[in-house]
Formats: sequence, structure tokens, C-alpha cells
Amino acid sequence: MKGDFKVFAVVLAGGKGVRLNSSIPKQFIEVRGKKLLEYTLEKFQMSPSVDEIILVVPRDFIGLGESFRKQFCKISKVVGGGSTRVESSRNGVFEIDESKSIVLIHDGARPNVNVDTIERIVDVSFRYGACIPVLPSIYTLVSVNESSVEGYLEREKIFQVQTPQGFRFEIISAAHEKALKDGKNDFTDDGSMVIYYSISKVYYVIDDDTNIKITTMKDLKVFEMLLGKNF
Ligand code: CTP
Ligand code: MG
Repeated sequence: MKGDFKVFAVVLAGGKGVRLNSSIPKQFIEVRGKKLLEYTLEKFQMSPSVDEIILVVPRDFIGLGESFRKQFCKISKVVGGGSTRVESSRNGVFEIDESKSIVLIHDGARPNVNVDTIERIVDVSFRYGACIPVLPSIYTLVSVNESSVEGYLEREKIFQVQTPQGFRFEIISAAHEKALKDGKNDFTDDGSMVIYYSISKVYYVIDDDTNIKITTMKDLKVFEMLLGKNF
């Protein structure tokens, strides 16, 4: 549900993919004849509630980004990224001039996101203002200091944060404005900014564990495997 709100999906593909150690940024690597970013864009193109896609790419790749418009008609803007994820996200969000809108922010490096997750995030962020997808922690986790274990974390309360994250426009634009003013660019996602500046309560929905982020070569192999199977 989104009423008469417009839904913008900001797809972040402005990183370098240093940890994957390939010659081109990881989002442009081809798997089974298609670039990772094409798999990601397909999902937002397919999502019934998404109206427009704002694609953020490294400045040197604007031409390549523009070329995706032919394939994905929902792309309304292609913008250059910044040197951190926060700056890339801000560049995308600041392109939006409709105050009555829902903004989804997604890692371009998550090509296997489910359309159903996108729809649930739109629904909850429309109703409650802000929503992120999370995964229950499957591991036993501890916090440590230099040499020893400080304590065991309460597993039932620990979740892994995923994307797409959804926000009403005024919430995410306020968070970015504050971070810009503070020069604080080290947030690793958008929900953390909203919490850090106490702008809104952030709700969550449980994601699918197949919505992996491609970070290392192992993740690329897992993605290839996921493509071949219906989990
Ligand atoms: N991202 C971005 N702009 C940046 C950094 C990251 O748009 N300056 C995007 C990436 O393209 C990716 C998402 O944010 O889709 C999540 O970031 P991450 O997995 O860390 O990607 P990279 O920063 O590219 O990889 P690395 O940290 O290994 O260099
Ligand atoms: Mg990174």
C-alpha cells in the first residue's frame, strides 16, 4: 500500500568493490551473460509499487549507467556517486523533489533481492515512516576487547541488516542533511543515520537469506548457485 505516494528506488552502484579485487567494480561483473547490476535493476523494474529508479554509479561509469535506460524504462536519473556509501546515497536522495514520496535505498551489490521484500518494505515504510529488512543471526556472537571476550550477545535480539531500506522522504532527507552538516560520512547504511539522529522509529521486516550482498569471490559463487536453483 502506498496511497498517492510515489515510490523512488535509489540503487547504489557507486562503489569500487575493493574487497572483491577484480579489475572492474563488482556490480559490473557478468554472471551467466548478465551484469550483477542488471539482475538488481530487473527486480525494481518488476516491482509493481516502484515508480522510478535513480541509479547511482561511479562518476567514470555514467555512460554505462545511461545505457541501462534502454532496458529499464523506470530509470529516471543516472547520477555520479561519492567516495563513501553515505555520499552516494545522499546524491541519489537529493535528486528527489517530490515530498510525498517513499524512498527505497538498495545496495546494487544485492542482485538476488525478492520482489516480495521490496513490496513489504514499501508497505511498512508508507505506514510507519521507516523500515529495514533484517535477518535473524544464525551464529553465536560475542563482543571482545583487545585480548578477551567481554560477553555473549543475546542472540534472540541480534539481527543482520539488509537492504532495500524504505523511508518517507522527509525522514531520509532530514538524516542526510544532518550528516552533511556534521561531515559524518561513515554510516554503513541509511537506517543507522535515522536512528543516530533520532529522526524516527525504524521498523523491520524479516528478509530472505537468499538476499546476499556480493562482497567476496565466495559470494559470487553463491549467487551463481542461487541462480541455478529455486530456493
Ligand atoms: N556504494 C556506493 N558508493 C560508495 C561505496 C559503496 O554506491 N562510495 C555501494 C556499492 O556499490 C554497493 C553498496 O554501496 O552496492 C554496498 O557497499 P559495499 O558492498 O561495501 O561495496 P563497495 O564499497 O563497492 O565494496 P568494497 O567495500 O569492498 O570496496
Ligand atoms: Mg564498501
